Amino acid sequence: MQILIAPSILSADFANLADSVKLLEKENGADLLHIDVMDGHYVPNLTIGPNVIASLRKCSELFFETHLMISNPDYLLNEFIKAGSDRIVVHPETCPHLHRTLTKIKESDLEAGLAINPATSWETCQFEYLGNLIDTITIMSVNPGFPAQKFIEFSVLKIKNFREKLNAIGLSHIKIEVDGGINKKTAPVVVQAGAEILVAGNAIYGELDPFKALIELREASIKN
Ligand code: DX5
Ligand code: ZN
Repeated sequence: MQILIAPSILSADFANLADSVKLLEKENGADLLHIDVMDGHYVPNLTIGPNVIASLRKCSELFFETHLMISNPDYLLNEFIKAGSDRIVVHPETCPHLHRTLTKIKESDLEAGLAINPATSWETCQFEYLGNLIDTITIMSVNPGFPAQKFIEFSVLKIKNFREKLNAIGLSHIKIEVDGGINKKTAPVVVQAGAEILVAGNAIYGELDPFKALIELREASIKN
């Protein structure tokens, strides 16, 4: 199983975003880029909007995963699609018509993901109806809003449960991503539980040498 590392630019220097991305866009570097969008409403923090993503798109060929932590993403969905996102991840609680939102993303030829908060259950995902519209499930191992928070331990069991249940209902193609508190210690544990994509902000951009930190994180993730 190949493990993908998705650096989160939330912990990068916002005055030098392009350089921060380029720093990791090389052989053995980032497999994709995780872009956290926060509206100060759904989560208590503000980050960037579609304009910044569109600007980054011009200087990077990485796969862009846009993690929308915003109330009712439908209002801005078109903008995030046009900005150059390759996958858009939404929180089910923010979408009054989740089927419509996921359909719109898929019909725009993008991948779609669902982000699951620590207190969000399997049932909320309604795989019975939505499974064919979902490419990835992002298990949030912190409450969304901030970088460098403490990893919530029960997330490990949640990853395991989601992986087993997805396989059991014929959705083994849906990849599980983990977001929050991923570092050299937690990475091998979540991989062992079934995670295939690791988002990491502080553990990469919080280090003096982010590229070296990424390589070390990748190595640690496959050690058990
Ligand atoms: C949290 C964000 C994460 C964040 C993770 O709300 O969704 O993507 O950047 O940061 P770390 O890896 O520092 O926990
Ligand atoms: Zn995120």
